[in-house]
Amino acid sequence: MSLSVDFYSDLHAEQHADALDYAALKKNDIAIVAGDVASDPATCLAEIKKIAAVYKTVLFVDGNHEFRTGAPGFKYDFNFRATEETLRKGIAQMPNVVYLRDKPFVQDGVAIIGRNGHWDYRMIKGLSRWRALRKARGYLKASFNQAAQFSKMARRDYYALRDQVIDFNKDKSIHTIVVVTHTVPRADLLVVKPGTSRERQAIMGSGKLRRLLKYDTGKKVKLWLFGHQHAPGTKTIDGVLYHENPRGHPGYADKNYKPTALKVA
Ligand SMILES: [Fe+2]
Repeated sequence: MSLSVDFYSDLHAEQHADALDYAALKKNDIAIVAGDVASDPATCLAEIKKIAAVYKTVLFVDGNHEFRTGAPGFKYDFNFRATEETLRKGIAQMPNVVYLRDKPFVQDGVAIIGRNGHWDYRMIKGLSRWRALRKARGYLKASFNQAAQFSKMARRDYYALRDQVIDFNKDKSIHTIVVVTHTVPRADLLVVKPGTSRERQAIMGSGKLRRLLKYDTGKKVKLWLFGHQHAPGTKTIDGVLYHENPRGHPGYADKNYKPTALKVA
């Protein structure tokens, strides 16, 4: 049996004047959407609904932008649990959409697991977490405690994914695990634009995520899909194919943006 998917991330729907024509872009029955669909949960859900109208199955992971409050200001709403609940309730109305944070997707011996990943200010070696956190307060327009909440979510997401990697390694019916995160899974995948400070890089991902592979004893993790840094690319490290396919913000987004059609198994 084979399994193929269309992969999207960082659609940033409310920022683009030209809406994507998902029916024209569709190559496979399953769409994976790795976060930053829009900058508030309601707009995100409306866009997911459009994708779900075209695809048989949509697998969704939230990004950091889903936790913002839209225009004006695009500030974070630091009530993260309430936002996740809003997303969960909205997705529950769409029977062909799976919120990967709540349940994995399994088909034909392939398990697709996913979580936002967030960031823990520990991704950059040699940069103190406290320094990264202090600087991030400015970028995030946040109090110290608010900015620190991202670390809690990074920890929570890491342990949830770790448990799934352990379970699917034990499960003999599973031969392939696909991991989907919004944030960048390891520092050596960072694509650093000139002038980007180390503190800025520290909010690109979680220092914990790469440890997930220590628990992949059967080497079942073959593919890791992610977004967040808006740098399309593909890289293989230690037998895992890492791939990102963001639409990004208007201005530099590819006018001919399309999902990556991927044969997973
Ligand atoms: Fe994004």
